[in-house]
Amino acid sequence: MQKWIMSGLFFAACAFAVILMFTLPGKEQVAEQNNPTLPVVQLDTAKAEATVKANCITCHGDQLQGGIGPSLQNEGSGNDAEGIFSIVTKGRGQMPSFKDKLAPEEIANVAMWLSEKK
Ligand code: HEC
Repeated sequence: MQKWIMSGLFFAACAFAVILMFTLPGKEQVAEQNNPTLPVVQLDTAKAEATVKANCITCHGDQLQGGIGPSLQNEGSGNDAEGIFSIVTKGRGQMPSFKDKLAPEEIANVAMWLSEKK
């Protein structure tokens, strides 16, 4: 008899744990609200170059040598992908935010590409 009660409790606890797993907001979800986190993407160089050509070279120069904005030719030595993702997503000073123009994955791809320029 006691065995049945024990295993009943055990299964109830398991079911409760599973429900919690699906209903509690994940750690990433909470962090996302405070600070945009870099989505995991595979670097696609051609796509990054196309995105930059369409959105960034007016200010940063067609060789990323700088213009209205600073040169990005060695951006990777000062900023990692995470930092660049945050600047491009939120904007900073004269730098516009691209939150509404580009998908997070597109920004992440560009950020990863730029972070390799050292
Ligand atoms: C309207 C002009 C403009 C456009 C378009 C623009 N930027 Fe900028 N960007 C700036 C300016 C100005 C700054 C300097 C911001 C500051 O005062 O901190 C900057 C800063 C940056 C920085 C930080 C540089 C550093 O090391 O301090 C990064 C990275 C960057 N831009 C990336 C991009 C990318 C990627 C794009 C295209 C998706 C883009 N920018 C489009 C004007 C622009």
